[in-house]
Amino acid sequence: MSFSRFVTIGNYQNHTINGQYLFVEADNGTLRICLASPFTVQVQAVRKGEDWAEFSYATLPFDKQVITLVETENTLSFFTGYFKVEIYKAPLRVRFYTQDGILINEDEPSFGIGWMGEEVTCYKTLQQGERFLGLGEKAGNLDKFNTQLTNWNTDAFAYGAESDPLYASIPFYIGIAHGHSYGIFLDNSTKTDFNFGASNHRFSFFRAQSGALNYYFFHAPDMAGVINAYTSLTGKIEMPPLWSLGYQQCRYSYYPAAEVLNLARTFREKNIPCDVLYLDIHYMQDYKVFTWNNQRFENPKQLIQQLEEMGFKVVVIVDPGIKIEEGYGVYEDGLKEGIFIKYPDGDTYRGEAWPGWCHFPDFTDEKARKWWGDKFEPLVGEGLEGFWNDMNEPAVWGKNVPDLVEFEYDGLRASHKQAHNVYGMQMARATHDGAKKYLNGKRPFVLTRAGFAGIQRYAALWTGDNVSTEEHLLLGARMISGLGLSGVPYAGFDVGGFIGEACPDLFTRWIQLGAFTPFFRGHTMINSRDTEPWAFGEEAEEISRNYIALRYRMMPYLYSLFYQASQTGMPVVRSLALNHHNEWKVFAYDYQNQFYFGDSLLVCPVLPNKQLTKVYLPEGEFYDFFNDEKVLQTGETIIELTKDKLPVFVKAGAILPMQSIVQHTAQTTDILEIHLYYGQHDTSFEYYEDDGQSYQYQNGEFYKRVLVYNPHQHSFTLEGKEGSLTSKYKTVRLYMHCFEAGALKPSINGQAQTLSATDYRFVEPISNFDPWFKEMDSSKTIKDLPFVEFENTDGELIISLQ
Ligand code: GLC
Repeated sequence: MSFSRFVTIGNYQNHTINGQYLFVEADNGTLRICLASPFTVQVQAVRKGEDWAEFSYATLPFDKQVITLVETENTLSFFTGYFKVEIYKAPLRVRFYTQDGILINEDEPSFGIGWMGEEVTCYKTLQQGERFLGLGEKAGNLDKFNTQLTNWNTDAFAYGAESDPLYASIPFYIGIAHGHSYGIFLDNSTKTDFNFGASNHRFSFFRAQSGALNYYFFHAPDMAGVINAYTSLTGKIEMPPLWSLGYQQCRYSYYPAAEVLNLARTFREKNIPCDVLYLDIHYMQDYKVFTWNNQRFENPKQLIQQLEEMGFKVVVIVDPGIKIEEGYGVYEDGLKEGIFIKYPDGDTYRGEAWPGWCHFPDFTDEKARKWWGDKFEPLVGEGLEGFWNDMNEPAVWGKNVPDLVEFEYDGLRASHKQAHNVYGMQMARATHDGAKKYLNGKRPFVLTRAGFAGIQRYAALWTGDNVSTEEHLLLGARMISGLGLSGVPYAGFDVGGFIGEACPDLFTRWIQLGAFTPFFRGHTMINSRDTEPWAFGEEAEEISRNYIALRYRMMPYLYSLFYQASQTGMPVVRSLALNHHNEWKVFAYDYQNQFYFGDSLLVCPVLPNKQLTKVYLPEGEFYDFFNDEKVLQTGETIIELTKDKLPVFVKAGAILPMQSIVQHTAQTTDILEIHLYYGQHDTSFEYYEDDGQSYQYQNGEFYKRVLVYNPHQHSFTLEGKEGSLTSKYKTVRLYMHCFEAGALKPSINGQAQTLSATDYRFVEPISNFDPWFKEMDSSKTIKDLPFVEFENTDGELIISLQ
């Protein structure tokens, strides 16, 4: 019997440039390097005679750039156009330098790249003070230094604050070394491990179970640039349907139809805005996908229509397991078409999920993806536009599909070891493409639990079965930040926690926070207490209504943030590390949960039943979002808490487009409110609208204009619009927050304007029953907020503020 020991790639022997690849032969393997852009370099390594990784589910095709190589006695090197790559010859090691020659990442001198049996590992020297962020959906701290993490999609019911792995695998992390950020994406779908200096003082490493070492190194002027480079490679989000950015209500499960209608009516009666209601597994007959339980839902089409008329969309769950049952059309058809995964001897694999024994479509087979996609035709015909892919790790009652089970892997044929981590993503792809095919030009909404790098192209992702605890509230904030850093801007958690029961105060803190996350959905487990926003007593109901309403007020801002994500990969929820990684406090245990919602709003999650909390305000100037008071002290600050108010701060110079309250996103209002906050530095905001539902924006049917605040010239400019649409808002109202009283004498394009003032508040009380609102009425209102109102014409508008 022999044991595998570690074998490094060895010393340089020779190199060739063939096409746009640089091949470097070494004693025990070959390196292949390719320049994908000035910010992106691909590094592959295989042992002699082994295959290069040519196929990837994660990446989009890219043009290879010409490498201009410089050789010295000890090195080969080239400049990417932005940074420098050096290959040291003996031993063969790869090093990355900034354009100023600062070493930011290097193979560990003794080990570098090497193999143990099938496993391939790349060891990197730990840089002094190096930090590690991202890696997708991960629990634990924001900075992953001193942790080891595994990527293997797992049905992690009731996971803990340190549990690993979870549902999705995104083997991409951002490192910060010597003040510079870089990214590494290990594009290998087998089980991968990352070690960021955990239980060793020498190195970080990443390792794949088998196949080529295939990683991309990114470096750009800032972290946003690294995320942009990574999402240029793995894809950016499509614009989601506008309705999916509204509040969404789920439970396991709402049925029958009358209950769903009742739920919809209650939202409207109570004036709690909401766009989406979910049908969890009980809408199906015996959990058989693509069926309806006709006792519970006699006429689905009619129900969906009725809800549509009330301004609700319905999202239904669609799991991968297909019940083995004679006479069930989908099962029989799948067998006939041969699209299920099989053992190597040809026997169709069976595993257990909700319906009992199931077969599973092979989503890595184009034929199966198309077969699956076509099953959405009747559902779309019934009026559905949103689908929820769950259990797609795939989950077989907490066990694993046996490793030897085989998958098509788009022609490469692979075992479960290679296919497991991409299964959920390929399911989401098949669902997205199938629904899109039948939606007649409308955008589908797909929600997924499992995913792999690139999942953002097909679906939004939620963080699975969280628990109704304080710890999970904070963890959720960190996980959404981490996903944002990892190219997945459209993500959210189950507000209130899926498992267990939140007390009213915990629920309110959670819904307040959820209003500032990209995917905003309340959900809960079967047989748990009711968790709709009105289920926790009148006070919690008021607070929930206020924050959900605030979410709808922020919709113009939020939609523009999604547009930015679709263009640059910039997340909606932005860890403070994105812009302030040189301030170590943003990584501190107490502050790592804070995030920016877009550019301008600093959100500080807080726990219930606390009178005081500490927050960290990074470098800059801030105002209290709810009463405009200037924050006098940045850095660590203790603030008083009230139940109704989540600590949210707005940056000086912020430009926040908002609107008045609507009950759902299809309701329109005429006035675009632009909230401008006094500041001393130039700021701008890229404002975006489109029809919110079709793909016509890809053909120029959008409305976009840059809003610019220039405090030195005392001006605010709405630059001429781009795109062929006109705005859906006829009027603009520019609110001027925190400007010196009496100093404003606005004129538009030279014409003097009347300055009006309003008694304005962000969180509007709907009723006065509660003493808290009375207090708020008298003391927390922003009195005399000046504004100027004008017609929303398309050309440039320059507003002089004095
Ligand atoms: C899984 C999902 C959960 C869903 C349940 C029933 O646990 O994560 O959200 O409600 O299955 O479908």
